[in-house]
Amino acid sequence: MKDTHQRFSHITISLHWLLALSMIAMLPFGLYIESLEGGPQKWGFIAQHKSFGVLILLIAALRFSWRLKNGFPKALSPVKNWEKALASFTHWFLLLGTLFMPISGIMMSMGGGYPVAVFGFEIIGKGEKNESLAQLGHIIHGLGGKILIALIILHIAAALKHQFIDKDGTLARMLGKTIDTQDPAN
Ligand code: HEM
Ligand code: HEM
Repeated sequence: MKDTHQRFSHITISLHWLLALSMIAMLPFGLYIESLEGGPQKWGFIAQHKSFGVLILLIAALRFSWRLKNGFPKALSPVKNWEKALASFTHWFLLLGTLFMPISGIMMSMGGGYPVAVFGFEIIGKGEKNESLAQLGHIIHGLGGKILIALIILHIAAALKHQFIDKDGTLARMLGKTIDTQDPAN
């Protein structure tokens, strides 16, 4: 059940790929919606975006507690201090991004006085407008989304570097393979 240095648990692997694919789909979807003129098509897309976003928040909360309990994975090959710091910063930001994106989306909606529904099932009703909540939500959603896209590109580049240059099994471990290596803590 628990992650080891040689092998990740099914929970870690499933949650990583489920959230990775969801985020990779939701970020460009959000940018696309933002670029549309107001109208029925845009409102329809926003309703779908909100529905998927709220579901992602539930999975992300689960993953966050799982990661806190398990700690982050240790590198499989020797890394310089700056690489370790960059990887740690990126992993934290990506992890928190799966929480602050949907939360800021909800803040935006609530601040605008709009309801939040998951595929037609209303979870937050229409309310009073709150300009500052809407604005704060919009800044976090817009800026946070752009920083996330940049860090995801960096994260994928790092995974490819480990796979093709270091050839150390980092990607294989996230794909469920057992790696024949010693835990550096031992
Ligand atoms: C094709 C896309 C992706 C690939 C190939 C990929 C690959 C990997 C690999 C190989 C690791 C293990 C790193 C290690 O052992 O040190 C990892 C960890 C991680 N990845 Fe990704 N990743 C992708 C997309 C994403 C996305 C979109 C997110 C979140 C927005 C994300 C968040 C994380 C986090 C938080 C970790 C730390 C371990 C964990 O919490 O499970 N990844 N990724
Ligand atoms: C994983 C979750 C989510 C991701 C990755 C995501 C991503 C994005 C991105 C990148 C944008 C474009 C922002 C910009 O360029 O300023 C956007 C727009 C938007 N998102 Fe999200 N979002 C998520 C969840 C949510 C949730 C849960 C809600 C509301 C409950 C929401 C509501 C909105 C709204 C209303 C817009 C603006 C559309 C417009 O006015 O044109 N999002 N989203």
